[in-house]
Amino acid sequence: MKVRDFLLERYFAKYEFTVEHMLSPSDCETMGMEDLLSGSDSEVLDLWRNLKLSYTEARGHPLLLKEIASRTGVTSEEVLEINPEEGIFLTMNALLDQDDHAVILSPSYQSLYEIPKSLGCEVTRWYLKKENGSWRLDIPFLEGAVRENTRLVVLNFPHNPTGFLPSLDELTEVLDFCAKKGIFVFSDEMYRGLEYDSEKRLPSVPELYKKSAALGGLSKTYGLPGLRTGWITSRDPWLLDRVASLKDYTTICASAPSEILAIAALRRGDELAGRCRAIVIENLHRARKFFLDRSDRFEWFEPRGGSTAFPRLLGNQSVKDFCENAVKERSLMILPDFVFDVDWNHFRIGMGRKNFPEALEVLGEFLEG
Ligand SMILES: Cc1ncc(COP(=O)(O)O)c(C=O)c1O
Repeated sequence: MKVRDFLLERYFAKYEFTVEHMLSPSDCETMGMEDLLSGSDSEVLDLWRNLKLSYTEARGHPLLLKEIASRTGVTSEEVLEINPEEGIFLTMNALLDQDDHAVILSPSYQSLYEIPKSLGCEVTRWYLKKENGSWRLDIPFLEGAVRENTRLVVLNFPHNPTGFLPSLDELTEVLDFCAKKGIFVFSDEMYRGLEYDSEKRLPSVPELYKKSAALGGLSKTYGLPGLRTGWITSRDPWLLDRVASLKDYTTICASAPSEILAIAALRRGDELAGRCRAIVIENLHRARKFFLDRSDRFEWFEPRGGSTAFPRLLGNQSVKDFCENAVKERSLMILPDFVFDVDWNHFRIGMGRKNFPEALEVLGEFLEG
């Protein structure tokens, strides 16, 4: 398999642990292991104390599968524990063959289109539209893009990097169209639970449409990326079995300590997600004000969920140079849009961490020169 470098991950690998300030991470404020365990129930604490570092059950710890199922509207049998990035890789491998066509909501986290491409598929990127300072879904484009050989539509709501979230009516329209055409849907739901208005939270796609798989995980909404724990849910038993078989060639089974900590996290899931959401919302107010106050230099696009937003740099300077200079002059990492394979002079900001206000202040100083 030949696959291009993952531009975003290479950019993070270069700067994440060397710069002083990060304006663009997509994960949310993490917590210490002691904090996680100290608030856990006695069953979880017993599991932790008696933990053996053996291989684990390939599908995932039964108690973890149960917690995931209760949050995603499927049964435990319809869940497979995976590492999130692995979930994209394996599900695409299970679903797609050479010469299939896939339509990918874009701009997009690269693996969502790069893995299909590496499998020899044709890929159409379905871009969100900009409208009056926010983002919009272009459903007629999707309808026009579908061909005889279209096997897959890839969704990602709340969306990285724009923070876009459609209405339930819009999502239903997309799924009804896919049902009519017999197309499978892969729904990346890594940011589900970070909607700013909880009433706008969408059902997980497998609850609405059988021919689908959803990806979720602990990295963003729950602030625990170091556990490397996620899940694929699907009401299609063939697909889940196939992904489970492919997992024998990647990780085989999950890390034993991570599984128990993941059970601890999901049993306190509402509390953990609520904490991350509160941080994002507070930072969003600051970010909106910062960028709107500087409307001669930036165009602000309002997000509706997730931890990221995707403003535009105005003027003649390329965003790539802008970001490079920020690293050089202020040790401030900002993520330019080329890592999403677009050239729109946008950049991502990440509002999930408590130190976001400091990073924003450093950006302010950088702008003043
Ligand atoms: C949309 C999306 N999907 C999947 C992932 C992968 O998650 P993880 O880094 O926990 O493997 C990310 C990470 O940034 C993401 O933004």
